[in-house]
Amino acid sequence: MKHFLSLADLTKEQFDDLMSLAQKLKRELREQGQNEPLLAGKSLGMIFQKPSLRTRVSFETGMLQLGGHALYLSPNEIQLGKRESVADVARVLGRYVSAIMARVFEHAHIVELAEYSPVPVINGLSDYNHPCQGLADYLTLLEAWGSFEGRTLAYVGDGNNVLTSLVNGAIHAGVTVHAATPEGYEPPTQVVEAALARGARVKLFQDPIEAVRGVDAIYTDVWTSMGQEAETEKRLRVFPPYQVNEALLGHAHAEAVVLHCLPAHRGEEITDAVADGAQSRLWDQAENRMHAQKALLVRLLT
Ligand code: CP
Ligand code: NVA
Repeated sequence: MKHFLSLADLTKEQFDDLMSLAQKLKRELREQGQNEPLLAGKSLGMIFQKPSLRTRVSFETGMLQLGGHALYLSPNEIQLGKRESVADVARVLGRYVSAIMARVFEHAHIVELAEYSPVPVINGLSDYNHPCQGLADYLTLLEAWGSFEGRTLAYVGDGNNVLTSLVNGAIHAGVTVHAATPEGYEPPTQVVEAALARGARVKLFQDPIEAVRGVDAIYTDVWTSMGQEAETEKRLRVFPPYQVNEALLGHAHAEAVVLHCLPAHRGEEITDAVADGAQSRLWDQAENRMHAQKALLVRLLT
């Protein structure tokens, strides 16, 4: 593994290994209060074109816990592709740091960074996918369920970057993914077809109730992703039937867990009662970003 741009690029062995290393690092931190300094002297350059809470803080604290260091480069600082070409940023930054993490608008920019960077590049979210989130999501499901065997996850809402990574992760986890989206907001056809061709079980729905019937987890995300703000009004008219509320949750298995990558727009895609309810795993999921990414950093940098 040289770069980490998509869960679809991993082998099943690499995916399984990241899950077990993340669990080991998490356990070690809980039991001993610290991890081995596996990344001593290493640094991570973090380029952000969009805001972030989880991605920034989980990478920064994760590097620190492993004995390394992270640098936050704000949207104004680098101005990827504006102040300097994407290729030149990759060439220069890669001479200073041990790895680059980038959150970009256009997925092509993360691909270009990887093409020109002499060091590993990690995708911290693009308009196409969110693979670090996907790792944390499957880690959270594994903890909640004990095993992926025979389990079904239903994603309800916009067929966006987060859903793409859940579908890509399903190739390795073997979890069945149901996706309920309004017409015109389906996940990209090539993502679903490529996953199906590799043996993933993915089923598309328009009716959210049908999609969640009896499932072991329900997942939702914002209706308007970063960069789509001009469509907010339109989306607010289309998506209300896809709200994850107590009535919808009632159609899932009684012990189904609820996930959301956060930030949440409470009262839109998820209600307070569900986000704060007994079945919510939102805070474990957010915490798991750090554990999953630490495993990823160890595998890319050691
Ligand atoms: N889930 C996630 O990526 O959160 P941030 O946008 O806060 O990093
Ligand atoms: N789909 C959301 C995820 C944020 C972490 C977005 O792209 O804005």
